[in-house]
Amino acid sequence: MMNSKSVKVVNLTKKYRNFKAVDNISFELEGDGAIAYLGQNGAGKTTTFKMMTGLINPTDGKVFIEGIDVKKERTRALMRIGALIETPEPYAALTVREAVGLAGELKGIKKKDVLNHLETFGSRVKIPDLDRKVGTLSRGQRARVIFVAAFLGNPDIIFLDEPTNGMDPAERKIIREVILEWKKDHMIVMSSHLLQEVTDTCEDVLFINNGKLLLKDTTRNIESKFNSKSLKVDFLTSVNPDELKEKLGGFASSVEPQSEKSVIIYFNGELEARAKILKLVQTAGDVISFAEYGSSLEEAFVNLIEEKDQTE
Ligand SMILES: Nc1ncnc2c1ncn2[C@@H]1O[C@H](COP(=O)(O)OP(=O)(O)OP(=O)(O)O)[C@@H](O)[C@H]1O
Ligand SMILES: [Mg+2]
Repeated sequence: MMNSKSVKVVNLTKKYRNFKAVDNISFELEGDGAIAYLGQNGAGKTTTFKMMTGLINPTDGKVFIEGIDVKKERTRALMRIGALIETPEPYAALTVREAVGLAGELKGIKKKDVLNHLETFGSRVKIPDLDRKVGTLSRGQRARVIFVAAFLGNPDIIFLDEPTNGMDPAERKIIREVILEWKKDHMIVMSSHLLQEVTDTCEDVLFINNGKLLLKDTTRNIESKFNSKSLKVDFLTSVNPDELKEKLGGFASSVEPQSEKSVIIYFNGELEARAKILKLVQTAGDVISFAEYGSSLEEAFVNLIEEKDQTE
């Protein structure tokens, strides 16, 4: 039998005056797992999330959640989902308990179950004191509260728009673990600007640019298509990137300063080249660290955007 978890987006468009924030996007997602929704600032990610979760109406096109038309049967469709989407904070005057309670009420979840969720899930992601006013929380603390609210009622599908935005590394790690665990029997659609995070958690990627869908593929395929890699090299003392580039000759496609004493070296990813680079950087100074830098998804992302800009 077909897995019931599905999101179908058909010719989705959102216009603001004459500007298309989302421009005729179609895709289908099915089954358990995590999917990344990526794009530059202003690409249209949040706008798509808002339409998929019924926060705003599309100018054109449709969204189906598990086959249910969000426009026609909004409430029934929204019962299947949970969402974390950047919106102006409407709950500032409420306490954490009241705010999450209200979110639960809107979904018809019993008070007792909301409290239970706050105790178990909430303590796992370390949400602040339940009696604190939402308006007095720090950005990261607030992010945790809305993260917890997104998982209320065990929804089939969870939309997370930059879930770790504003969080510290320890907290991001917990969020990552929760996502890895939940994606086993839920569908999670998330956006993030931290591509390493995406590589670690999502098996599929959708890339959007200027409101249009550029690419939909598995994370693994995208990484192998753009097999360029980067290395971060730290020196004991300052280093001149231009001289280093000269020394590396054809082995490096570019050398970019990261700080006075460190550089990022882009190369073709081949191990032979990496071995040569390791030897040659040591002729430029005392190397204190030599390590892979960033994810190749990062490279793929930048390449895609650049290719697109050139063809337009
Ligand atoms: N209410 C609105 N009125 C006018 N323009 C809007 C509105 N909401 C969004 N836009 C525009 O639509 C485009 C897409 O915005 P959106 O918030 O979807 O981008 P995003 O991909 O989420 O970016 P970011 O990574 O910065 O969060 C932007 O150019 C934005 O300025
Ligand atoms: Mg956004």
